[in-house]
Amino acid sequence: MSISGSNREQWGSKAGFILAATGSAVGLGNIWRFPYLAGENGGAAFIFVYIFCVVLIGIPVLIAEILIGRTTQKNPVGSFRTLHKSKFWRGIGGMGVVAGFVILSFYAVVAGWTLGYIFEAVTGNLLNYDIAEEASSHFVELTASPFWNVGLLALVMILTMAIVYFGVQKGIERGSKIMMPLLFVLLIGLMFYGLTMEGSAQGLTYLFNPDWSKINTNVILAGLGQAFFSMSLGMGAMLTYGSYMSRKENVPTSAVWIAVLDTSVALIAGICIFSVVFATGQNPDVGPSLIFRTLPVVFTKMPGGYLFAILFFVALSLAAITSTVSLLEVTTAYFVDEKKWPRKKAVLIIGTITLLLGVPSALSFSPNTSVDVFGFTFFGITEFISSNLMLPIGGFFIAIFVGWIWGFDKVTEYVKEGSEKLFERFPWMIKGWKIVLRFIAPILIIIVLLSSLGII
Ligand code: PHE
Repeated sequence: MSISGSNREQWGSKAGFILAATGSAVGLGNIWRFPYLAGENGGAAFIFVYIFCVVLIGIPVLIAEILIGRTTQKNPVGSFRTLHKSKFWRGIGGMGVVAGFVILSFYAVVAGWTLGYIFEAVTGNLLNYDIAEEASSHFVELTASPFWNVGLLALVMILTMAIVYFGVQKGIERGSKIMMPLLFVLLIGLMFYGLTMEGSAQGLTYLFNPDWSKINTNVILAGLGQAFFSMSLGMGAMLTYGSYMSRKENVPTSAVWIAVLDTSVALIAGICIFSVVFATGQNPDVGPSLIFRTLPVVFTKMPGGYLFAILFFVALSLAAITSTVSLLEVTTAYFVDEKKWPRKKAVLIIGTITLLLGVPSALSFSPNTSVDVFGFTFFGITEFISSNLMLPIGGFFIAIFVGWIWGFDKVTEYVKEGSEKLFERFPWMIKGWKIVLRFIAPILIIIVLLSSLGII
């Protein structure tokens, strides 16, 4: 498959689309971001909000986004141009392209840490930490070094650019077909090991026994933003992947599969991290460094930890790279399709600008080099604006567009293609989907956004 806009191939099979879309969805968002947000936002209460958002808003918007792509067979901006005259809707596609670029700038920093941790694992450095504080200070030391942090960021961007530049998506696809299942198996192994540690039961209570008093508008915004982030939703990545899908395939069923796989990986990662966090008496709310502080303790203690650690960080890096590639590809496809730039020029220019924007994010982890932006680090503010604001706003407009603007009779016809049987058996589904897109999703998103920004 080629993710470029110019010569449009199609996925080989239904599993091809689900695998590729799951490859984009499953990444650092599940294994790094989900546990740390759960830890910062009170555990089970956050998880409840997150799952609620995935089911009620995420899946319907995912169906809408894939459907736009499948119908137009174009990039986000080109899609909206095909479906509507007004510049406004093209602008919504454009906002997705910008969101992808901003997300990539901080995502690549964390992907850099995972690459760095492969080296740590190989040199046996992750096996010296049976005490969590020591694993923490090792992480703090590493990330305080601009050389380590920016160097690895550059490495991730160079790898990502090389892949998008040479268009060797085939390799990535093949690689991720092996690596994704491997990651899944390793995570399950880690989860079972974590659960055998003394004190881990407290982790389960923390994850699944909600303390409702912890819920406030910020927790709800974080849950909503994470639902979008984790499903690669609201910025055109799923739209672009949908544009390679054939009309014979079933959009709603595929969307449900992607959501189920993505959420399962997040929950398994959550169980494994929090069983260790509580078994080793750590604080759940340390923020973005959480998994890098916790996992070395498990690797140190578990039999075969050396090999396990290497495999784990290799698999996680690959999962991260399949996501960085999908992020850079959306922006590249836009400049190639819409601005007629040669692909190589687009990759070089956008990749370099992303790298430069990533540098202040990479420097956010040392008090000497971090800059303060409205009380956030640079990393924190780019992450917040892109994930918690731009993605839900993108999702809001996708829901409005498909629910109200496109013409729901046409939409009904398009979504039925490939899923006739499903809708024959469950005719209420279309109605339910329409109500969610027209009312429930937009109203909920607006209320969450406005109230968390203090406007209502
Ligand atoms: N969903 C990816 C993850 O969970 C991140 C991502 C967001 C990728 C948006 C593409 C678009 O890691």
